[in-house]
Amino acid sequence: MELRTICSTLPFLLLLSFVSLSLADLNSDKQALLDFASIVPHGRKINWNPATSVCTSWVGITCTLDGSRVRSVRLPGVGLYGPIPANTLGKLDALAILSLRSNRLSGSIPADLLSLPSLHNIYLQDNNFSGNFPSSLPSQLIFLDFSFNSFTGNIPVTIKNLTHLTSLNLQHNSLTGSIPYFNLPGLKHLNLSYNHLNGSIPSALQKFNASSFQGNLMLCGSPLDQCSSITPAPSPSPTHLLPPPKVPTKPSGGSRKKPSTGAIIAISIGAAAVLFLLALIVVLCCLKKKDTENSSRPKGKGGRSEKPKEDFGSGVQEAEKNKLVFFEGCSYNFDLEDLLRASAEVLGKGSYGTTYKAILEEGTTVVVKRLKEVVVGKRDFEQQMEIVERVGHHPNIAPLRAYYYSKDEKLLVYDYMAAGSFSALLHGNKESGRTPLDWESRVKICLGTARGIAHIHSAGGGKFIHGNIKSCNVLLTQDLHGCISDFGFTPLMVLPTVPPRTAGYRAPEVIETRKCTQKSDVYSFGVLLLEMLTGKAPVPSTGGQDDVVDLPRWVQSVVREEWTAEVFDVELMRYQDIEEELVQMLQVAMACVAKVPDMRPPMGEVVRMIGEIRPSNSDNRASPSAAGMSKGSNTDSP
Ligand SMILES: *[C@@H]1O[C@H](CO)[C@@H](O)[C@H](O)[C@H]1NC(C)=O
Ligand SMILES: *[C@@H]1O[C@H](CO)[C@@H](O)[C@H](O)[C@H]1NC(C)=O
Ligand SMILES: *[C@@H]1O[C@H](CO)[C@@H](O)[C@H](O)[C@H]1NC(C)=O
Ligand SMILES: *[C@@H]1O[C@H](CO)[C@@H](O)[C@H](O)[C@H]1NC(C)=O
Ligand SMILES: *[C@@H]1O[C@H](CO)[C@@H](O)[C@H](O)[C@H]1NC(C)=O
Repeated sequence: MELRTICSTLPFLLLLSFVSLSLADLNSDKQALLDFASIVPHGRKINWNPATSVCTSWVGITCTLDGSRVRSVRLPGVGLYGPIPANTLGKLDALAILSLRSNRLSGSIPADLLSLPSLHNIYLQDNNFSGNFPSSLPSQLIFLDFSFNSFTGNIPVTIKNLTHLTSLNLQHNSLTGSIPYFNLPGLKHLNLSYNHLNGSIPSALQKFNASSFQGNLMLCGSPLDQCSSITPAPSPSPTHLLPPPKVPTKPSGGSRKKPSTGAIIAISIGAAAVLFLLALIVVLCCLKKKDTENSSRPKGKGGRSEKPKEDFGSGVQEAEKNKLVFFEGCSYNFDLEDLLRASAEVLGKGSYGTTYKAILEEGTTVVVKRLKEVVVGKRDFEQQMEIVERVGHHPNIAPLRAYYYSKDEKLLVYDYMAAGSFSALLHGNKESGRTPLDWESRVKICLGTARGIAHIHSAGGGKFIHGNIKSCNVLLTQDLHGCISDFGFTPLMVLPTVPPRTAGYRAPEVIETRKCTQKSDVYSFGVLLLEMLTGKAPVPSTGGQDDVVDLPRWVQSVVREEWTAEVFDVELMRYQDIEEELVQMLQVAMACVAKVPDMRPPMGEVVRMIGEIRPSNSDNRASPSAAGMSKGSNTDSP
């Protein structure tokens, strides 16, 4: 005990000494940021409150590890307007990362900002900066994106000094002159497309392909056309001064809509992925046709599966890049382009769309849901998102962090919860000797989930419902807190025609009326409780005789004969002295799945009932033992 106290105070002391040493610098950083925010108009509110901590509370700001200086400023798409004033951001002399992309900033970039010694990643694309391309850039520069602005003039020869540069994006500006010779071995990504560059492409850059240079009418040489073969007769026609229309590059796989997004996404759909998608479509079509009882369970039981990397951005339009909308207080500071560039892995495919785990370049991991068949228009979608933001503030509701809406693509961004879903924990890798989820944790998760749902039901005068409660929508924090996710989707979608994976949770009246209510939420939650108690998933499975679709009916039929332990999950049989609690929980569950909606208790009542099952102090519970529970109720074993 004592050792632990010492250990935990030590870093704190260290921290204190850092803080006092560096307070002056952090204060000047803070002032520089406040000056910036007060001079530059911005559309969206930035919560930079002088009274709160710069490093921990300010949106878009991160600090150095010791908390002594501001290390990154990321304010993508917040409606910043006008020039960046000198003596503001340029004073942050420990700044390493600057992202002000997708704003409406204009003018030229102040020299003090571009001479910051440690600045190495600059993202200023999608603004309206103008003036000559800066002649001097930070010498440590690794990543530069000035694309989609109005820079003019030449690319400076000093670019060859940037020996750390790996990525240079200058497409869609108005740069003129020839490309200076530079040979940077580390340069992995180059885009000079859609400028007014002329002359021949330097040999060192010929390893890049044509898509790095296209749209410069007077540029020649490999990988573009031979210089000799074209005799550039610069016509004075003004149309040549305008950026030429986009030349669609050849799609490499499948019918991708947007090659430019395709190129920046680190994920490419190979032929394998296309085949996989085709296969999936076939499977889904078959599932729709088949009777739900006989149909086979889609791959990825429990919502997790190892699928090939995929892309979720193919419907994003260039013009709409700045519309990733973050919710207030959200500390993420990436933007849509980061998201599209992230490497993604399919976590699951549900009735509302596909869920991805996306790892951003900087290491942040988020969950992205790509909704399909959204039936509402933009206005309604945004209003619904406002409701989700307002109502969704609860420790047991998985917080929605951001969303993106365009005609072809609807994305929702959530925190990534490493512990996975309740479903995965209950049913995942049974074969490979995992540790079964213990009774304590199951009760805790269900109680948390019930609280989340009760919160939704009580908000807004009781007019909200969840509409899609199931175990793979219950996500778990590291310390096994249950959070209900997917709140707020139901009004956006047509209720799918009873997809097999959800059918088991759906109340009988919903199958008829196709209308969810709070009472049908209670039913779904009851099924979830039964799932927890029995260890059986209420979804059809391939060929398994044990699995049942209608969990409530199965439980009723077993229970009707006698209160037998057979109904409970064998993994729970290892715990002593819980049978009374099991039975109490079963009663709560059965009340929830009552056939007549009005017989089901309201969610607040369900929370109370589950809370009463366990006395809060149950620390001295017996640990798992080989003993079964069929002995009748012993009391108080040590
Ligand atoms: C961009 O800046 C130019 C002046 O440099 C101005 O004429 C133009 O309207 C601006 N465009 C936008 C979209 O703000
Ligand atoms: C950068 O490049 C310029 C022009 O080629 C050169 O004069 C200058 O010495 C270089 N600076 C450094 C620090 O190498
Ligand atoms: C390229 O354009 C510039 C003007 O922007 C002109 O001075 C120069 O001669 C051109 N070079 C070639 C090779 O056409
Ligand atoms: C070359 O172009 C193809 C598509 O046309 C793209 O997938 C590839 O990444 C490009 N290579 C480089 C080095 O830019
Ligand atoms: C360069 O930018 C253009 C225009 O956005 C795009 O079409 C092209 O694919 C990009 N090329 C590379 C290599 O990123």
